[in-house]
Amino acid sequence: MQTSKRLEGIGEYYFSKKLREIEELNKAGKNIINLGIGSPDLPPHPDVIKVLQEEAAKPNVHAYQGYKSSPVLRNAISEWYRKWYSVELNPDTEVLPLIGSKEGIMHICMTYLDKSDEVLVPNPGYPTYRSAVKLAGGKCVEYKLREKNNYEPDFEKLEKSKLKKVKLMFVNYPQMPTGQLPLEKLFEKIVAFAKKHNILVIHDNPYSFILNESPRSLLSIEGAKDCVIELNSLSKSHNMAGWRIGTLCAAKERIEEVLRFKSNMDSGMFLPLQLAAAKALSLGREWHDEVNDIYRQRRKKVFELLDLLKCKYSTEQVGMFVWAGIPKKYKDGYELSDEILYKSDVFITPGGIFGSAGDKYIRVSLCGSVERFEEAIERISKTL
Ligand SMILES: Cc1ncc(COP(=O)(O)O)c(C=O)c1O
Repeated sequence: MQTSKRLEGIGEYYFSKKLREIEELNKAGKNIINLGIGSPDLPPHPDVIKVLQEEAAKPNVHAYQGYKSSPVLRNAISEWYRKWYSVELNPDTEVLPLIGSKEGIMHICMTYLDKSDEVLVPNPGYPTYRSAVKLAGGKCVEYKLREKNNYEPDFEKLEKSKLKKVKLMFVNYPQMPTGQLPLEKLFEKIVAFAKKHNILVIHDNPYSFILNESPRSLLSIEGAKDCVIELNSLSKSHNMAGWRIGTLCAAKERIEEVLRFKSNMDSGMFLPLQLAAAKALSLGREWHDEVNDIYRQRRKKVFELLDLLKCKYSTEQVGMFVWAGIPKKYKDGYELSDEILYKSDVFITPGGIFGSAGDKYIRVSLCGSVERFEEAIERISKTL
């Protein structure tokens, strides 16, 4: 069957292909240690599970839910933004819960993009930005993030480029895959740039609680609601990746615009899931501290592993991964990744999958136990 034109140039997601290869290797008797994908292996808080269990046992919670989700969840999101980001959001008009923030990226692209519209996407960056723009019929214009520039957009260079057709810009800090925190003034610069050029900025913010003491929202910048949509997620911050709960926060008009598309695509989430998510959002700093202590121990092991591979990395980075520059002897991160996979039975993500500016890098996920990292270190030191 001929697939649609819109799928041209859209390949299967890299991880979906690679996971199949790893599965084949495992079937052939290997026991690959996968340090690639960022899916939290730790459970959510027990109180969150309890709410889900208790609510799901009730007889009257199984019907379709409203397109804008339960007010309980919207209120909890609004409170969460006030408590952690000092951002005021009207829970009735400025919050839209999502079935994961990944789907929000697609909703936004489908809501705003027509054929000749251009979108600024980070290189390196989350590959979904590029594919969602293409699927919606828009055109990606990459902006490079460089280590020497603290992985910030080069605004001087952007100012000199043609921006007339640019309608959206994706930004993401703490940045994935580089782990870069938003440094002072970056958020102000983004908002000023967006206003000057009449661009709608999409800030993707799923990593602000991981190994980061001071979570920030782009919406905290004065006037940001005029030009920003922020996506957020419980996947990483609350160990709930499989639950598929995210949120879109923006001005009332933006929420209504996105809802015009979204309400034609899906329906509200299962109510017990929403109530459990609201519970998760009410958790205090102890929860995040506990989770981060574990990530910190793991990160020490990852630094050891990267030292063994003679990779260079910043110890200041945050988020669920460690981003590292590869030694010169490798052509690119794919070569290093394949060598480790086939010789040492350990999978590490090549940086090139996040864009050409990631070619000389690799990314190691912190989603594995200390013992698994120790085992990976042992395998690599024996085989390299
Ligand atoms: C930068 C970035 N944005 C969004 C997502 C999607 O998260 P969610 O689970 O909320 O769909 C991910 C997941 O890996 C991510 O790395």
